[in-house]
Amino acid sequence: MAIMTEARLDIVKLSQHIGAEVRGIDLRAKLDTEIIQAIRRAWLDHAVILFRGQDLAQEDLIRVTGFFGELGKLARPQEFFPKGYARLLPNIMMISNIRENGQTIGALPDGEMMFHHDMLHAEVPHDATLLYAVEVPTYGGDTLFASGVAAYETLDPAIRAKLEGRTAFHHYNYGSTQRGDDRGVAAFSESTHPVFRTHRETGRKAIYVNRLMTVGIVDLPQAESDALLNALFDHSERPEFVYAHVWRKGDLLVWDNRCSMHARTDFPSDQRRLLYRTTVMGQERPY
Ligand SMILES: [Fe+2]
Repeated sequence: MAIMTEARLDIVKLSQHIGAEVRGIDLRAKLDTEIIQAIRRAWLDHAVILFRGQDLAQEDLIRVTGFFGELGKLARPQEFFPKGYARLLPNIMMISNIRENGQTIGALPDGEMMFHHDMLHAEVPHDATLLYAVEVPTYGGDTLFASGVAAYETLDPAIRAKLEGRTAFHHYNYGSTQRGDDRGVAAFSESTHPVFRTHRETGRKAIYVNRLMTVGIVDLPQAESDALLNALFDHSERPEFVYAHVWRKGDLLVWDNRCSMHARTDFPSDQRRLLYRTTVMGQERPY
């Protein structure tokens, strides 16, 4: 009788509540179904999984994305890519601050980003995001991941009781990575989702609002809504719920947008940073 697959995966937790490194896997190799299932299980258990030291072609990234669900589609292929790099395959987004001929080649080029869930402004947000590090600065540009489950489970019961069953309103201005005074004016996309989301696969509940995109609780006066949201943001971002990832070239991270949020720290604008990003499509409206 063969040893079961779970035992064949070497999993090391990265923090108390969120994140695990999966060791000993070369993602270029053809992996059997049991290993892929174990990787998927590790992702559901830890919300964020890390593979270090990978050497992935774009095709590999697309294939690995398929372990987690259906590849998310980009409206159009990205046109720009740095000198010496291959043209991007469809549905791979380049996150980069690299500029050529005075033009940024990638999305989300500079600076820090507040905590957010990817695509929360959509009706059916993406289940997952994958990010693969091709070039990283010597310091900064870390990605912080916060467990929405740990935050939900430790939330003040009085706040939880007030918000259970309620929905929140979100919007996202693609032109800005920080909420500014112009919010509401240049909103590009908006949505309404439950304040606490139930995860389809694990059944666990998570706080599902964030400081970058959430603008109000539906059917509450603005002042009360603001106070409750600020309490939720402050609680959700507490350091004990957060894993801070310091990137190395060759890292692949896969995170679950249904039960975690993430942020980016600042980094030197004169150093190159380049990552490839894919997404996994959502399968339902959050509930
Ligand atoms: Fe993001």
